Amino acid sequence: MTESPTSYVAAVEAAAAFLRDQTAVRPKVGIILGTGLGALADDIEVRDSIPYDAIPGFPVSTVETHAGRLLFGTLAGVDVVAMQGRFHLYEGYSPQQITFPVRVMKELGVGTLLVSNAAGGMNPLFRRGDLMLITDHINLQGVNPLIGPNVDAWGPRFPDMSDPYDRSLRALAEAVALEEGIKMQQGVYVVVTGPNLETRAEYRMLRQMGADVVGMSTVPEVIVARHMGLRCLAFSVITDECFPECLAPVELAEIVEAAGLAEPKMTAVMRGVVARIGQGA
Ligand code: HPA
Repeated sequence: MTESPTSYVAAVEAAAAFLRDQTAVRPKVGIILGTGLGALADDIEVRDSIPYDAIPGFPVSTVETHAGRLLFGTLAGVDVVAMQGRFHLYEGYSPQQITFPVRVMKELGVGTLLVSNAAGGMNPLFRRGDLMLITDHINLQGVNPLIGPNVDAWGPRFPDMSDPYDRSLRALAEAVALEEGIKMQQGVYVVVTGPNLETRAEYRMLRQMGADVVGMSTVPEVIVARHMGLRCLAFSVITDECFPECLAPVELAEIVEAAGLAEPKMTAVMRGVVARIGQGA
């Protein structure tokens, strides 16, 4: 942590106080939308849209495909806050900066975090454009947002990670996908720092390690969310096929295009899960 824990806590509290002044929405669910996956925002009845650069202490996103706003409103009748655009380590932010918004969401009263990301598919049964429910993760970023003095008021020094992706929320997501006729893969997400995509040798290693998909986000946010006791649910959309024996070069435009292909499926499942949370799930 570059700042002292006290000033970090104060910054989180200041951002939350600012946001409580800006909006009457009191979100129960927080949503983080990944690269090329901002369209769920269109389903939100937005009451207040607050650009990141207006929020004290908030990092500002640098990736073009990300809008950089916090949306407050209702989704399927549930009060939500959604990050349209997220922060990545490869942009140069610290793990604490990346996860600052999650701390703020919790401070605002959020109890459940839904996350999406674009990921490379290494499981040979997965195809570009598939939707995958994350069942577990492997942190290969070499850093952890919880390194540094622990803030005991936020959570324990050694948080449990035996089931980071809430079992009952995953069951809900499966039920929604089944009901809507959406094919949803399930698997393990491994996170790396990026920004380069992996070499053939790296994909081979990551697959052998036990991962189904690889990406550059989500895990820091989920670690912090679990530290604070939030229930988490996360999805990947497979944007490129990472099979070492027949690897083809990939452009960012193709990744964003594939994210667009899978987006309606992911949006439908997320919306259905939020609706059920609104009914008490
Ligand atoms: N590797 C890492 N991150 C990614 C990939 C990938 O192949 N595709 C989309 N995000």
